[in-house]
Amino acid sequence: MDRIRVKGGRRLHGTIPISGAKNATLPLMIASLLTEETLILDNVPRLADVGQLQRILGNHGVDVMVGGKRPGETPYDGQTLHISAARIVDTTAPYDLVSKMRASFWVIAPLVARMGQARVSMPGGCAIGTRPVDLLIMALERLGAEIEIDGGYVIARAKHGLKGGEINFPKVTVGGTHTALMAASLARGTTVIENAAREPEVKDVADCLNLMGARISGAGTARIVIEGVSKLHGARHKVLPDRIETGTYAMAVAMAGGDVLLENARADLLQAGLDVLVEAGAEISSTNTGIRVARNGAGIAPVRVVTAPFPGFPTDLQAQLMALMTCAKGTSHITETIFENRFMHVQELARLGARIHLDGECATIEGVRKLTGAPVMATDLRASVSLVIAALAAEGETMVNRVYHLDRGFERLEDKLSACGAAIERIAG
Ligand code: EPZ
Repeated sequence: MDRIRVKGGRRLHGTIPISGAKNATLPLMIASLLTEETLILDNVPRLADVGQLQRILGNHGVDVMVGGKRPGETPYDGQTLHISAARIVDTTAPYDLVSKMRASFWVIAPLVARMGQARVSMPGGCAIGTRPVDLLIMALERLGAEIEIDGGYVIARAKHGLKGGEINFPKVTVGGTHTALMAASLARGTTVIENAAREPEVKDVADCLNLMGARISGAGTARIVIEGVSKLHGARHKVLPDRIETGTYAMAVAMAGGDVLLENARADLLQAGLDVLVEAGAEISSTNTGIRVARNGAGIAPVRVVTAPFPGFPTDLQAQLMALMTCAKGTSHITETIFENRFMHVQELARLGARIHLDGECATIEGVRKLTGAPVMATDLRASVSLVIAALAAEGETMVNRVYHLDRGFERLEDKLSACGAAIERIAG
């Protein structure tokens, strides 16, 4: 298994290109199941999760063609996928595929909407919490699907097609909103989603579905209205930049010090995260080509943050912020309200000398004067990258083990950071 070795203490200077968003790419690829025609996606990041979803879609009979390299392209330019679900050969998504990636459960929506049936394995638990699918099932039922649970599989049937309905989510759910959007696009009649997730990735998927002929309005707000259509067609769509990758590198710069341009990044996708960084002492400015982040001289100020659905501070940046706060001049408080068990990084950060006290969903971080390098274990995607951020400022060498988690969501992380002067390398194992 590969490992990543970081020698701390170098400031970061230069440019980091921000890739297309993983959490938009995955539902966009799944949306290809809604049409017989080809969906072309540009700016797709090169990530292990994208490869895994390609295999899952392949099992349903979907052809995915990866566009060739164009002249003048850099290794960081996103790839183009041509995805064609002309013929769906299998409406079952088996356990061994779905259990590897929770988002693959979302295939249930386009499959039942287009084919009238789907049999998809329950995704099961995961390191960051229980993560049930009850709200996704509720949404499909509201659209007329009959649901049965048998042998660890959710079976959805709609023999005569889905029909529009009212879906009122008792809790904001990104996956639930994606599922409802995709299913309602091919349902007969009007669907109204109340308390919809407002995440930019939901808006990106809705924009793509509209290009495919769907009639969706209100995406990006808490109330989405969908007029169902009988068929969708092919389209070409460019994936929006990854706001979590953006925030992660912004925290890395705040941690290590220096001055870096995050190329292609968009501040409007991450205002809450950027506001916290400014409070912590980073200088942030938007430019024509991205976002510039700098911290020179000034120390890191402590903050008080509560994670929340968009436009709040994202849970997917909680671990990275905690890494930054380990070196703040004072005590910080971070409350995690989305996933009950998303604190796996705490004990690993402690190995570097961090002082963090956990009490239920609240973490109290007492800033220390310095961290010291140590071997640590990556536990989930965002926890892993928080260890890299901490290691950038730690004295001596940190070895991050089990980095396959990082490859699920960060494209060429070690190349992007070393190009800005970090002493970071991958050791193939
Ligand atoms: C998406 O997960 C993201 N994944 C997650 O990113 C992200 O952390 C999360 O949204 C929250 O922003 C992708 O987009 C691929 P939810 P999702 O449904 O859709 C509860 C990363 O690191 N809930 O919005 O699975 C759930 O347990 C990942 O890139 C139910 O109770 O999250 C949680 O407490 C990890 N019943 C809350 O809702 C349900 O049926 C929000 O989850 C569904 C969810």
